[in-house]
Amino acid sequence: MKIFVDTAKIEEIKEAESWGILDGVTTNPSLIKKAVESAGEGVSLEEYIKDILRTVDGPVSLEVISTTMEGMITEAEVLYDKFNGINNNVVIKVPVNTSMEPGDDDFAGIKATKVLSEKGIPVNSTLIMTPNQALMAAKAGADYVSPFVGRIDDHIRNRIGLKGGVDYPKGTYYPEELAVRVWEKKLETAIHEQKIDDIVYRDHNIMRMFDWANDDGFFSGVDMLWSIKQIYDRYGFDTEIIAASIRTDRQVRQCAEMGVDIATIPFPVIENMMTHIKTSQGMKAFCDDVIPEYKAILWGKDFEKA
Ligand code: G3P
Repeated sequence: MKIFVDTAKIEEIKEAESWGILDGVTTNPSLIKKAVESAGEGVSLEEYIKDILRTVDGPVSLEVISTTMEGMITEAEVLYDKFNGINNNVVIKVPVNTSMEPGDDDFAGIKATKVLSEKGIPVNSTLIMTPNQALMAAKAGADYVSPFVGRIDDHIRNRIGLKGGVDYPKGTYYPEELAVRVWEKKLETAIHEQKIDDIVYRDHNIMRMFDWANDDGFFSGVDMLWSIKQIYDRYGFDTEIIAASIRTDRQVRQCAEMGVDIATIPFPVIENMMTHIKTSQGMKAFCDDVIPEYKAILWGKDFEKA
């Protein structure tokens, strides 16, 4: 599995690069905002982006900001023309659907994806929340799709009533198994209390439960990835899946187990992936057990001074 870092902070990108594990970078307007805020006043954003591009020999996603097809195409061309010459690694992030309110154009993102891919500009189709969006983006020519794993967990947690009024911070363990059991329990109770016709056709609460993820029928963001992977494998799409909105190292492991192409991971989660209490304890025990004769071999007779 390729590892991308989901950040625009140059120090995080350089650190991950120095570990030899970095295959690419994904940014978005929110991540650029955070990076520029932490870099302080007087930073040239253009030079900053060029530094990112030079640091990693792999795809770097830069996102458009318009919500119309024409606007997104123009911006994609500006970004590509300005930056791709630096290290030939610019990918343009285009939201799969830019609409925010009923009545907005639902199809500008997919149309822009088609046009850009025909122009040979690589597209990362982002804000993917369903396998059907991923299917459409692949058909429109996206080189990458970015399904948002953590945000789907948040969404299901809310819909199924697991939230209980609590605002869970990012990185909180998402109990997928519990979500399945809560769902089954609710269904079982409904079946005991009502006739099946009432459940399926009349009870709006139950209908909402069936519909809680727009017919996607999965219980976690990781489940959504699995579904997208099945579809891509079945039809031999070349589009690579970038598991995005990753919040925990458990999600990264699940991505790797199912063979997702890429996970784009916030730097603190990458750091977590390297740590274990028993590794630290083992390290301490090894250091405590080193005998002087061994030090002398490794460091020479004057090892005390080393
Ligand atoms: O890659 C998308 C990512 O930056 C969004 O993450 O945690 O805000 O859902 P999150």
